[in-house]
Amino acid sequence: MLKKFRDWLTSGVSTTSISETIPKKKVSQRVHLSQSHLILDDGSMFDITIGEDQDIETLLAIQTACYNGETPWNASALHHELKRNTNALYIVIRQLTRPVAFIGAWLVEKEAHITNVAVAPEFQQKGIATWMIQELERISIAEDMDILSLEVRISNTKAQRLYRQLGFADGKVKRFYYSNDQEDALEMSKQLVKSVVTNLEG
Ligand SMILES: CC(C)(COP(=O)(O)OP(=O)(O)OC[C@H]1O[C@@H](n2cnc3c(N)ncnc32)[C@H](O)[C@@H]1OP(=O)(O)O)[C@@H](O)C(=O)NCCC(=O)NCCS
Repeated sequence: MLKKFRDWLTSGVSTTSISETIPKKKVSQRVHLSQSHLILDDGSMFDITIGEDQDIETLLAIQTACYNGETPWNASALHHELKRNTNALYIVIRQLTRPVAFIGAWLVEKEAHITNVAVAPEFQQKGIATWMIQELERISIAEDMDILSLEVRISNTKAQRLYRQLGFADGKVKRFYYSNDQEDALEMSKQLVKSVVTNLEG
């Protein structure tokens, strides 16, 4: 999920041409969460916020826990995402001050593209990623997006299974997609459908 971001940063696209394709107000300032707390079946409670610059340490801690001590999105990339990228949206989950999970996405034109989703190991298999993806889906529909997409490592069958359960379909395989180890990526996407309210009395 990282390559698009690197390509974009290094593409030499001028600020002017980017600003022509993006809305004036930041997505993160425009959207609203459906709830500020998440309570799981076991009664554990979590705080949910829209990501801001002050969340960088939290996002780094979650990645370190999820990716064997590595941070695919480092502090400067996250700073750019949270402070400057007007199309970026992060949802951050904590338990009191404890970093738990986050999802990041870019909402560009009609496509919401998930750039990262990570849940700290001790909080996995509890439905937290499911909730975050469904919340992002709800927000994306409200933002008039047509499609929710992502790339996932071809070896990450656990994440792929979850995405399929949530209605994502397999797309193309992108050969040698990840620059650190040349692993292939699988594209996955989901068409977003606005629910239509019909007036049966009419
Ligand atoms: C992939 C990842 C984000 C999933 O997060 P998660 O919070 O564990 O996901 P969920 O709990 O929503 O779903 C995982 C599984 O638990 C199940 N589940 C959901 N709620 C549950 C509950 N209350 N009790 C038990 N299981 C539950 C889901 O049905 C799903 O089942 P599956 O294993 O058959 O697919 C997480 O494993 C992770 O962070 N991995 C490392 C980083 C990564 O690979 N990110 C993806 C990059 S593309």
